[in-house]
Amino acid sequence: MKIKKAVFPVAGLGTRFLPATKAMPKEMLPVVDKPLIQYAVEEALASGIEQIIFVTGSGKTPLENHFDRQYELEDTLRKRDKTDLLKTIESIVPKSGTIIYTRQSEPLGLGHAIWCARDIVGDEPFAVLLADDLIQSETPVLYQMIKMFDRLRASMVATIEVPKEDTNRYGILSGEEDYDGIIRVTNMVEKPDPESAPSNIAAIGRYIFTPRIFDLLGDHKRGAGNEIQVTDAMVELLKEQPLFGFKFEGTRFDCGDKAGFQMANLAFALERPEIGPQLREYIKKIL
Ligand code: G1P
Repeated sequence: MKIKKAVFPVAGLGTRFLPATKAMPKEMLPVVDKPLIQYAVEEALASGIEQIIFVTGSGKTPLENHFDRQYELEDTLRKRDKTDLLKTIESIVPKSGTIIYTRQSEPLGLGHAIWCARDIVGDEPFAVLLADDLIQSETPVLYQMIKMFDRLRASMVATIEVPKEDTNRYGILSGEEDYDGIIRVTNMVEKPDPESAPSNIAAIGRYIFTPRIFDLLGDHKRGAGNEIQVTDAMVELLKEQPLFGFKFEGTRFDCGDKAGFQMANLAFALERPEIGPQLREYIKKIL
């Protein structure tokens, strides 16, 4: 079965970016000139996703507006002959009916946010993208994963290697490398201390799940941080079905972290022909 639906949990408060996120969703923070969430949505659409499912919370209206028409702005750009900008603005809006919003009314964790999409996804495999994890790659990472899913027909999560001292920031997995880039997961732990971490292989925010995950998330067991963790449901899942870790091609930036967010801005800005050279000069000067 084809992966057609992608879930975007976007209900988080973004406290790490206060005061910027006081009245603006953290997913709307721009990397260069594009909000984080737009990178994730574009990645999904470029990977063949046909339905975008946002799990939002209060204060997320700017996000909904971002993916909708803005007639006044479009009209002004048209009158000023700003054709390129107009095209950019218009191209953000996916076809009518392809975005669905649901709300996570209580902040019970990532696992709970994904579970909120159960009736919209239904009985088919689906993707989950966390906009905080921004990936610069030749081929969209979700596309790489969907290609692999076509071969494996099983749940999987994108992985990176992290420094040992950072294991307490991630879901950490252990397992056997089956073949190049594919790890057959045998266990997972959410945010373990470096001393007890089973490895330094971390899950990052790109997942493909079989719909069985919804039943397991529905148990509502609390885990690390007293939240309903998707990692715990994945541990239950791998008792019944295979689960794979996937080493992707690309560079991942942790945009949920101030330093990671600045690095992403720098990396993406340096690739822009209109500002890259100027920035490169400036960096040379200040270092
Ligand atoms: C979430 C997941 C964690 C994963 C991380 C990737 O944590 O719970 O397993 O490693 O995303 O970014 P969060 O960063 O939301 O605390």
